[in-house]
Amino acid sequence: MSQAWKRVEVIGDCTLYLGDCMAIIPTLCKVGAVVTDPPYGINAARSRNSQKHGWRDYGGGEWDKERPPPDVIKRIVLCSANVIIWGGNYFADLLDPSQKWLVWDKGQTDFSLADCELAWCSFDGAVRRITVSRSRALQDGKQHPTQKPVDVMAWCLAQLPKHAKGPILDPFMGSGTTGIACVRAGRRFIGIEIDEGYFDIACDRIRRAYSQPDMFVSAPAPQVPQQLGLLEGGEG
Ligand SMILES: C[S@@+](CC[C@H](N)C(=O)[O-])C[C@H]1O[C@@H](n2cnc3c(N)ncnc32)[C@H](O)[C@@H]1O
Repeated sequence: MSQAWKRVEVIGDCTLYLGDCMAIIPTLCKVGAVVTDPPYGINAARSRNSQKHGWRDYGGGEWDKERPPPDVIKRIVLCSANVIIWGGNYFADLLDPSQKWLVWDKGQTDFSLADCELAWCSFDGAVRRITVSRSRALQDGKQHPTQKPVDVMAWCLAQLPKHAKGPILDPFMGSGTTGIACVRAGRRFIGIEIDEGYFDIACDRIRRAYSQPDMFVSAPAPQVPQQLGLLEGGEG
């Protein structure tokens, strides 16, 4: 029997598969959560804006011409009780009503692109919002046309229920941003990407995340004298 994937790379606690997620998902063990950003079907890979503004060509391609077929989205929802799907508003006809949505506010209104992006959550909780500039992905070193900022995906992982143990699966890994957030959070990660160019970029970014761990460690907050017990009259 032939293998479901074309290549597999194990980098630290991350296992990355090159291939079609529909073929690979049935071969995987149970995961703690799914955090993913599927194609929305809006042709973002060939956006007119990107040409108009002379932005970098990320390889384009046809992958965002259509959203994944309904059975793919339904299969992904069955992978775990804890699922976050970015672009959930493009799949609302396939997803159950949910109390909890995540909002990435891009901090800029009335731009030619959306002010916010929405993620559907399979679990209950309050709607939460993060404001991160859309240019943050450029600072991360943008290599994919719809690359999410690492800060957004790191925040997203923090929204998962505390009991959501086990590896995080991203079946539409793109340039591996969810994987980098997992490295930063010390979580195991399984990523799947169908495009070899983006797969190689994801491997490279995740390798670099492991080799530069200090990048992800916040500098300790400066301690004020009160905290150090050095204030006059304080207990030293
Ligand atoms: C919206 S992008 C993900 C971008 C990612 N969040 C990032 O920060 O780089 C979706 C990705 O899914 C990939 N893809 C599309 N269909 C797929 C499939 N059936 N299996 C695996 N990957 C697929 C596309 O090649 C594309 O890179």
